[in-house]
Amino acid sequence: MAAESWRKQMYLLWSVFVFWTPLCWGRPDPQQRQALLQQEVIREVGGSVVLNDKEKLLNQKLHQLKLQEMELPEFPPAMHFFKAKPLIEQSAVFSFLQKMPKGAALHVHDFALVGVEWLVKNVTYRENCYVCFTDDNSVRFLFSTGKPKYKEHCSTWTLLKTLRLNLNSTELDNSFIRNLTLFTEDPDKAYPNQDVVWKRFEQAFLVAYGLVTYAPVFKDYFYEGLRQFYMDNIIYLEIRALLPPTYELDGRRNSRDWSLRTCQKLLQQFRAQYPDFLGARVIFTVHRGLNLTEAVKAVEEAMTLQRNFPDIIAGFDFVGREDTGRPLWYFRDALEVPEKQGIYLPYFFHAGETDLEGTDVDQNLMDALLFNTSRIGHGFAITRHPVVKELARKMDVALEVCPISNQVLKLVSDMRNHPAAVLMAEGQPMVISSDDPALFGATALSHDFYQAFMGFGGMRSNLATLKELVINSLRYSSLSPAEKDKAITALLVKWDKFVSESLLQTFW
Ligand SMILES: *[C@@H]1O[C@H](CO)[C@@H](O)[C@H](O)[C@H]1NC(C)=O
Ligand SMILES: *[C@@H]1O[C@H](CO)[C@@H](O)[C@H](O)[C@H]1NC(C)=O
Ligand SMILES: *[C@@H]1O[C@H](CO)[C@@H](O)[C@H](O)[C@H]1NC(C)=O
Ligand SMILES: *[C@@H]1O[C@H](CO)[C@@H](O)[C@H](O)[C@H]1NC(C)=O
Ligand SMILES: *[C@@H]1O[C@H](CO)[C@@H](O)[C@H](O)[C@H]1NC(C)=O
Ligand SMILES: [Zn+2]
Repeated sequence: MAAESWRKQMYLLWSVFVFWTPLCWGRPDPQQRQALLQQEVIREVGGSVVLNDKEKLLNQKLHQLKLQEMELPEFPPAMHFFKAKPLIEQSAVFSFLQKMPKGAALHVHDFALVGVEWLVKNVTYRENCYVCFTDDNSVRFLFSTGKPKYKEHCSTWTLLKTLRLNLNSTELDNSFIRNLTLFTEDPDKAYPNQDVVWKRFEQAFLVAYGLVTYAPVFKDYFYEGLRQFYMDNIIYLEIRALLPPTYELDGRRNSRDWSLRTCQKLLQQFRAQYPDFLGARVIFTVHRGLNLTEAVKAVEEAMTLQRNFPDIIAGFDFVGREDTGRPLWYFRDALEVPEKQGIYLPYFFHAGETDLEGTDVDQNLMDALLFNTSRIGHGFAITRHPVVKELARKMDVALEVCPISNQVLKLVSDMRNHPAAVLMAEGQPMVISSDDPALFGATALSHDFYQAFMGFGGMRSNLATLKELVINSLRYSSLSPAEKDKAITALLVKWDKFVSESLLQTFW
């Protein structure tokens, strides 16, 4: 035994001598040093992107700009987004990123697309809008011809128009805005832990629910959502949608098919108005609190929707907090239904949005891949699972990294410590997305790009990183190979135009 360990030690010593001499004796060989640095560069996201002359010039200017902003006394990615936001909005890097064509937003939820100001200032001012006040300091809205029936844990319904006569409208509107977002002056105090912040998060969805499921509002909301994303230089979206029934003034309910037909029509209208917009698809989602019987039904429903609306339905996913919901493995009998019937229903699972290392929930990442997921929503925990990480890479399954969401929902506080810093350095397939921008008070995608570029990208992320991330957003979309080629070509035309125009701009 002792002899063996001695031999091992000698071997180690010998191998150090043979392989690392230049590193251990005196000054390291500068060429070797350069070669090692280069090896790291090649591995990172964007490492194999070759920039043309114009892009190289732009990259230099961007690097300078970044250096300047890194030296400012306050570094926004190190702060909570609610405090960082006004600083970010003064940043020249941010305005550069706003103008940058960003391709697609692949991880966003249906009722978190439109800035809540629009909901309050436009939607709640419409006729027949009723409000009630819940026991737990929240509100609910409902459109109705007559006074709606009593709702549990809520005051009697009041016509908002009448209420506005007696109350200060500005103050009332501000309180509605607070109900619809997570924004608060002192987030650390308001949200001491994940339980508290998730409770408020789910409540904000309920506040929006009565507004956005009113059929006429549903239409305007979807259209306005597309418009806000388009204005943030996004040309394509994949929206995770619960597709709840919408309702009419008399209480009649419309089916899921109605919602999808409506989305199809609105997309046509939108593309007629903005011809360079490519479109949007829906990932049908259900809550991960469902039981198995309900989940089987939901998967069957997803298959039916996919059959009837193949152009708009991209696939299926579960939503809701992973830590308190059911793990994917629980749903295995439901998830195997399509394959048993010889049907391919693409999955886009949220997985690894957790820090409960080693629990059943923590296995979602692996199970998502075993069920052949097309992408992984978040994948925040993946650096703790080297095998899963390698598997994701082999299968070319991209992570949808949503920096601001992870920070607000308390998985990370300083963006420089986001696991995506490691993943980016290793060149793990990824896209940047925004999850629920309306609830966080963020723009469609620009704020999240800022966090990725300045926060976990650090000084090494550059124009090549951005270009790869932007191309990834279409490469990892659910579009067919032919559609992807077309989309990427269209994106690159916009990109080149952006590069030329930026060189003439005055950010610098
Ligand atoms: C509300 O939004 C709709 C649809 O986007 C628009 O047509 C209408 O003019 C807006 N109304 C107000 C008062 O802003
Ligand atoms: C929600 O709005 C109600 C009514 O104006 C208000 O009393 C309550 O404080 C608001 N809740 C939050 C969390 O801001
Ligand atoms: C309503 O409240 C706002 C903000 O508190 C205040 O500035 C404004 O003067 C008030 N308006 C009226 C009519 O009282
Ligand atoms: C699943 O949930 C449904 C509806 O909530 C309920 O009727 C059913 O009994 C549940 N099934 C199981 C197996 O728990
Ligand atoms: C797995 O997913 C890929 C695309 O992500 C698809 O082409 C393939 O058919 C799927 N395989 C099965 C068995 O579902
Ligand atoms: Zn999500």
